[in-house]
Amino acid sequence: MLDSGVGGLSVLLALRRLRPDLDVLYLADSSHAPYGERSLSQVAEITHRNVGYLLAEGATVIALACNTASAAALHDLRRTHPAVPFVGMEPAVKPARSLTRSGVIGVLATDATFQGELFASVVGRFAEDVEIVARACSGWSDLVESGSIDGSKAERAVARHLDPVLEHGVDTLVLGCTHYPFLAPLIAKRAGAQTVIVDPAPAVARQIARTARLRGTGVVRFVASKDPAHVESIGQQLTGWPLSVAAMV
Ligand code: DGL
Repeated sequence: MLDSGVGGLSVLLALRRLRPDLDVLYLADSSHAPYGERSLSQVAEITHRNVGYLLAEGATVIALACNTASAAALHDLRRTHPAVPFVGMEPAVKPARSLTRSGVIGVLATDATFQGELFASVVGRFAEDVEIVARACSGWSDLVESGSIDGSKAERAVARHLDPVLEHGVDTLVLGCTHYPFLAPLIAKRAGAQTVIVDPAPAVARQIARTARLRGTGVVRFVASKDPAHVESIGQQLTGWPLSVAAMV
């Protein structure tokens, strides 16, 4: 599995509940984070390299636990490695479409994710008859990377992006970045109980669980491309696991 940092742990948490037997190598590409502020072509190049690393380490299924990396590279990765099963993320507009009553859906993601063809195609396929309010939530993944998922600084950052979205009459919010489930309590508090929040992590975890047919021994390894000690402490905070993170070599 890979992500720019600790965001993909939202998918890994859901996956461990379903398939504690799977052996997982989780790559936090902290040296290139945040992905969302890079160009799609840069993220594509970085993601191709990281997938090469995971395959060389023996991965048999690759999960892009990152919407931005999926937007940038999923399509091309499947062409480049036709024998490798890939599971990627796309903004969960389809389930949101069946949940909205107001017909207005807010999609929260990175700037780069909104620029990708994947987002345009999801909207084209599933949201022709609803209104989509797309908001690039710059700074949110940094909050999660620094472990600031509660308190007044995080509350202000959440309100800054969320309030303009809610003003449109949104009743359903799609978390289109794997970091954002860690801010879900603050998002829910600000949006109010009447707003439905769609976190795609459980559905993506189900897809990974279906794709990874072989049983494993339940070993989970973590590597980070920068600052493994920092990733380790935030990873422990977010998961509650006593995980240890090694430097990517
Ligand atoms: N977690 C990532 C995503 O799902 C990227 C966040 C970032 O590095 O900007 O889009």
